[in-house]
Amino acid sequence: MIQITNPNELQEYRNYIQESVGFVPTMGALHEGHISLIKRSIKENSKTIVSIFVNPTQFLPGEDLDAYPRKIESDIKICELAGVDCLFMPTIDTIYTKDELAIKAPSIKGYILEGYNRPGHFDGVLQIVLKLLNLTKPTHAYFGKKDAQQLFLIQNMVKQLYLSTNIVPCEIIRESDGLALSSRNVYLSNTERKDALLLSKSLKKATKLIIEGERECQKIQHQMMEILSPTAVEYVQIVDRDFNYLEEVLIDNSIILVAARVGKTRLIDNMWV
Ligand code: PAF
Repeated sequence: MIQITNPNELQEYRNYIQESVGFVPTMGALHEGHISLIKRSIKENSKTIVSIFVNPTQFLPGEDLDAYPRKIESDIKICELAGVDCLFMPTIDTIYTKDELAIKAPSIKGYILEGYNRPGHFDGVLQIVLKLLNLTKPTHAYFGKKDAQQLFLIQNMVKQLYLSTNIVPCEIIRESDGLALSSRNVYLSNTERKDALLLSKSLKKATKLIIEGERECQKIQHQMMEILSPTAVEYVQIVDRDFNYLEEVLIDNSIILVAARVGKTRLIDNMWV
């Protein structure tokens, strides 16, 4: 596995590759969720590039940028063992200039839900993802459905800017008890972890209600809120796949989203129905 820290070197590496390239962008602290994206990329492409970069521009002041888990030694091992061809680990100084041009997420769909609770977060996500896609020019780039709004905004950016990468949405990976994998789960104490399970429990309840015939979003949201009451809920929403709020669930075109704080840890989860 080649390890690169300099963006220009990455461009050079990429330009030599004639075959298909799969790309998995990450912020490190790799878990089974990331590994599933990496494995899929390796299966579907001749070469796989993974990036590890805790991107400061997508963290708001006061968020967990400094505390964000960093496990670079074990991440490198994981990538090596998985069969990654190239690991890109830029530094802030190599990937950003002092006077960066601004990338702005769409003013509506970049500023609702996650974007409402973390204003400017998606500006930073799109800024770094655009840079990374331009550097790696991947045939396929792999993103988890857990960050559903991020996935939607990246698909939207690729379309609007006529980028030639195919964005591949990948299934959420969960612990056996339902907790969606996240690098931030390490912040949870044993008791907090129990409350964290309420997110997936509320989504399961929503799915059950829908299977039983309930379509009214307000009623579903209300029952979810009851389950989530021990947590500090930021939002429970049902949107279509274009992130328009729904009044009634549309089967095969809805995403049920939840964001809540458990202790100091902010968690998100969702279910595609
Ligand atoms: O989902 C993430 O880990 C990050 O938002 C991403 C896409 C790697 C950009 O920093």
